[in-house]
Amino acid sequence: MPANILVLDDEKNYLLILESILEDEGYNVTTLSDPEMGLAYLEESEVDLVLTDMKMPGLTGQDVLAHCKKNYPHIPVLIMTAFGSIEAAVEAMRIGAFDYITKPFANEELVLSVSKAEQYAATQQENIRLKREIRDRYSKGNIIARGKGMQQVLDMVDRAAPSRSTVLILGESGTGKELIARALHNASPRCDEAFVTVNCMALNPGVLESELFGHEKGSFTGATAMRKGRFEQANKGTLFLDEIGELTPELQVKLLRVLQEHQIERVGGTETMDVDIRIVAATNKNLQEAVSKGEFREDLFYRLNVVSIFMPPLRERREDIPLLAAHFLDKYTKENQVEIGGFSAAAMDYLTAYEWPGNVRQLENVVERCTVLARTDTVDSDDLPPEIKDEEAQFKSAVDLLPSKLNLAETMDKIEGALVKRALVQCEFVQVKAAEMLGLSKSNLQYKLKKYELAGKAL
Ligand SMILES: Nc1ncnc2c1ncn2[C@@H]1O[C@H](COP(=O)(O)OP(=O)(O)OP(=O)(O)O)[C@@H](O)[C@H]1O
Ligand SMILES: [Mg+2]
Repeated sequence: MPANILVLDDEKNYLLILESILEDEGYNVTTLSDPEMGLAYLEESEVDLVLTDMKMPGLTGQDVLAHCKKNYPHIPVLIMTAFGSIEAAVEAMRIGAFDYITKPFANEELVLSVSKAEQYAATQQENIRLKREIRDRYSKGNIIARGKGMQQVLDMVDRAAPSRSTVLILGESGTGKELIARALHNASPRCDEAFVTVNCMALNPGVLESELFGHEKGSFTGATAMRKGRFEQANKGTLFLDEIGELTPELQVKLLRVLQEHQIERVGGTETMDVDIRIVAATNKNLQEAVSKGEFREDLFYRLNVVSIFMPPLRERREDIPLLAAHFLDKYTKENQVEIGGFSAAAMDYLTAYEWPGNVRQLENVVERCTVLARTDTVDSDDLPPEIKDEEAQFKSAVDLLPSKLNLAETMDKIEGALVKRALVQCEFVQVKAAEMLGLSKSNLQYKLKKYELAGKAL
């Protein structure tokens, strides 16, 4: 596609000449003698490059340049200056013109300059496109959310994205907390700025502080140079604080201050810097419990918990499993360059029935392993790792997931009620089938349906 060039000059004759030279080169050219109209034109049209005269009545070339820099930073601006006004040309370069040419100029000179600027614009646009592609990878389109649970999560992402409010993402390990944090950033007005991640558990507390706040040269042994911290790097963007539950009390106080005052100081520094950051924090800990135990500051908890998003464990959204499995199969067959069409019915039954203590991440690992080890072009139950098929182990992991200090009778009732309900759902509410599946007589099942207030639902 030929590039679109906007040419601004108050001398109409000059515009005619420029138009004919550039059109001969195959460009789409729009000429305007009123710079104000030029700005209006920029707003409405796709312009790849601006060529503007310096001295015009009304707005100068510098004004046009400043306007472009501010509103369309990807559009290169070429400035034409009259012979002898070299200072103005230097000034234009200083404030960001792509190049300047002095009038009068030879046609070749103009064409060369324009073609350089046009190539530059094309690369810029390619970079923007690549950035967008990476962004799409973490966009909602690539997040599997078939069931209601994840739909609610995505709905929260949509509602929370436009503001700067802090978001706390809660959920077991592997449920997709980081994925949602990135999706939140990408759906927010900050999407073109940095998304910076810090894992609060991975670093020891001393290192973590200088990692977050940066440090001045010489502030401690080994600080041989000034270093910017993650807060600074995330300025105008989003800072993702993963495993926030692991923050030490000292760092909790410091983070609270940043959240309240939007200011930071480097370690060993005296200067206070303003920062504009959106914080997204995540944890698989029960933070409220940590607060009541005195391990996590209550004031910080409330500051972080302005909006909270709860990631449901995979076993509570089994309807997502087939789509997730297919999504990962597609990803890893491409990556490993193998051809596997899908899962056998038996294999899929195992996948949907399993408890998935490691959630989506564990499912992803299992599917990756299958793409490496599958014997045929379909993943069969033989290709699945033993733990997925081991009912004893599943039973144990289900028990491990229960809270400690339970009353036995109450717990058994809860489990029984849940199993009866699940059997009903699996048998599409047909009582005879559910009774058979559970190994109960019909009357015994009816008794239990009453006990657990499910009688009205059964057929
Ligand atoms: N709904 C989903 N759709 C597609 N991929 C998903 C989904 N949820 C999670 N994933 C993928 O599963 C993997 C684990 O997700 P992620 O790292 O976001 O989990 P996490 O909750 O941060 O885990 P941890 O607590 O272990 O850090 C990632 O590769 C992620 O892309
Ligand atoms: Mg994570």
